[in-house]
Amino acid sequence: MKNIILIGMMGAGKTTVGELLSQRLQKQLVDIDALIAAREGMTVTEIFESQGEGYFRSMEAGMAQALSLREDLIVACGGGLPLQEGPMAALKQSGWVIYLDRDAGEIFDGEDLSDRPLAQEGREAFVALAGERRPVYEKWADATIHDFTSPISTAARVKEAVETLNSWEQGESKG
Ligand code: S3P
Repeated sequence: MKNIILIGMMGAGKTTVGELLSQRLQKQLVDIDALIAAREGMTVTEIFESQGEGYFRSMEAGMAQALSLREDLIVACGGGLPLQEGPMAALKQSGWVIYLDRDAGEIFDGEDLSDRPLAQEGREAFVALAGERRPVYEKWADATIHDFTSPISTAARVKEAVETLNSWEQGESKG
C-alpha cells in the first residue's frame, strides 16, 4: 500500500494525527523530526544550534529519500521539508500527500512552539511564514484537510481522503 505523507506548518498536528492514524490503520508511523533527533542524540533545537539549519536540512532530505523507497507507512514530515524539491518529489512518488491546513494564528495562539527554532520570532512572523509556505504545501497536496475540531476528527478526515484517493486510483487502473 502507498504511504500516507502528512505535511503542513509546525504545530498543525502532523505527529498527533499520525499517531491516531497509525493506531486506527495499523500502519507504522515515521516522524522524520523524531528520527533525526534519535539519530543525533539531540533535540531539533540543539541540532539547529550546534550544527546549523543546513545540517538539519540535509539529514531531513536523506531521510525523505530513504523513506520514499518504503511502503505502507504514515510519514509525518517536518514543516520545512516540502521546500526541498527533490526529496519531497521522491516522497510524493511513494504515496498520498495530505496537507493539514490549520490556521497559523490559531496554531500560534494554542500550541506550545517553544521547541520549534523557526517559531521564535513572534506571531506575525509565524503567520507570514505560513503564508509564504502555503503555495508550496498546496503544490504537493493530493488532498487538503481543514477540519481541526479535534485530533480524532482531523484523523478521520485524512482517512476519508486517502480512501477516496485509493478508490479513484483503483477505478482509473480498471479503465
Ligand atoms: C520546521 C518544522 C519542525 C522541524 C524544524 C523545522 C520548519 O517540524 O522540522 O523545527 O521549518 O517548519 P514540525 O513541523 O514537526 O514542527
